[in-house]
Amino acid sequence: MNAISLQRPKTQSLMAGPQPVITTDRLTLRPHRLSDADAIAGSLSDFAVTRMLARVPAPYDRQDALDWLVVATSGSLPDWQLAITDGDDTHIGVVSIELRHGRWHLGYWLNRYYWRRGYMSEAVAAMLERFSRRMPETSVHSGVFADNPASLRLQERLGFRMTGCSEIYSFARNTMVTHVETVLKPGALWQGKGA
Ligand SMILES: CC(C)(COP(=O)(O)OP(=O)(O)OC[C@H]1O[C@@H](n2cnc3c(N)ncnc32)[C@H](O)[C@@H]1OP(=O)(O)O)[C@@H](O)C(=O)NCCC(=O)NCCS
Repeated sequence: MNAISLQRPKTQSLMAGPQPVITTDRLTLRPHRLSDADAIAGSLSDFAVTRMLARVPAPYDRQDALDWLVVATSGSLPDWQLAITDGDDTHIGVVSIELRHGRWHLGYWLNRYYWRRGYMSEAVAAMLERFSRRMPETSVHSGVFADNPASLRLQERLGFRMTGCSEIYSFARNTMVTHVETVLKPGALWQGKGA
């Protein structure tokens, strides 16, 4: 084996190591545990949540959560897939940054009971702030279904800009849905509320 084949791609090696624990005013973002399965299944059994996600099926049950958790807790990926927990360590959502085809992608969802309290803005801002310290010259890609104004608003407030539109398949809806692509360029993260 030669020296070149021993080098890992730069994007992966920078994110190597354990996933971080990030605290904000109201939340703790922490690595997942298999014991989060019931809470995740409870949140994602709600079609109001899964219909806004591209790759989550509906109906969604505990086995789906366990299948996802086995990978998320394996330590085999460079991704950050953090549980959003409140003051009592109750699992209320997920925020993730995943390496897909050489680009970093942001994703997130929140249990419906906790919507409209600014929680996800707080969680995503903190996650991106930590990511940008680790990877200061790297863009973060994301996107929203065209019928998700809350998510688009959240991203625009944090500095994301729209880059285009496409049709992508939604597992939960079992149909193609118009998707707005977005990107956060290096240095563009808004460092205000929640950051
Ligand atoms: C999208 C989602 C994460 C937002 O979480 P949240 O904690 O309710 O968001 P916040 O309270 O931080 O609000 C973010 C912004 O969206 C706005 N907003 C929230 N709900 C809204 C709605 N239904 N319509 C329009 N704007 C809305 C808020 O006013 C806020 O804007 P502001 O900062 O200018 O006041 C949550 O609704 C959710 O999990 N939805 C289902 C899954 C999903 O859509 N995931 C993202 C896929 S791209």
